[in-house]
Amino acid sequence: MEHYFTNNENLKSNLRSIEYTVKNTSFVFYTDNGVFSKSTVDYGTDLLIKAYLDNSEKTGNVLDIGCGYGVIGIVINKIKGQEIEQVDVNKRALHLTEMNNKENKTKSKVYESNIYEKITNKFDVIITNPPIRAGKKIYMTILKEAHEHLKPNGELWFVVRKDQGAKTIEKELKENYNIKLIEKQRGYYIYKADFALTN
Ligand SMILES: C[S@@+](CC[C@H](N)C(=O)[O-])C[C@H]1O[C@@H](n2cnc3c(N)ncnc32)[C@H](O)[C@@H]1O
Repeated sequence: MEHYFTNNENLKSNLRSIEYTVKNTSFVFYTDNGVFSKSTVDYGTDLLIKAYLDNSEKTGNVLDIGCGYGVIGIVINKIKGQEIEQVDVNKRALHLTEMNNKENKTKSKVYESNIYEKITNKFDVIITNPPIRAGKKIYMTILKEAHEHLKPNGELWFVVRKDQGAKTIEKELKENYNIKLIEKQRGYYIYKADFALTN
């Protein structure tokens, strides 16, 4: 079975565009076969974006890790003007993210990185809808190692479904982070984590 996070160059392209509106701002995203949530912006991603826009006071730079076709970083750059870096392991997703930045007149640094391998900056915010299907080792590394790439008082924002083990993840992250449940809807949990007390 092919997963959206694998690079399959033989997978036939079927480029299309979808529309997405948030905070009265409309976006167009190119999507394709072989990328996550190609027909519509994912419910959890939408909830994460809105929770972040409504609740974070951060204004500095943002890492959108596992960016897919780029929706999270593009919306944040457009609406809050924050400086963005977007990474993924899926080359097709990265190409779409470049196209989508052009299409929506947003700016970000887009590059390939397996987890944090190529990340050199420190960020005010790391935000992700993590690749649960890539396996626990990968998504827990993205969440647990975030603090190594955050500035002091930086924030990690993520979404995870209850049936994908939200409560277990919360418990594991409590060892290193202050973790706060910001929002829950339809089994999707939005968390903000920082390490102000533990760092
Ligand atoms: C659940 S999708 C989210 C995509 C996009 N952020 C969104 O919300 O629509 C997770 C993304 O993580 C990427 N991914 C999988 N394994 C990864 C890894 N080892 N390092 C970085 N990104 C990875 C996948 O290719 C996929 O695009």
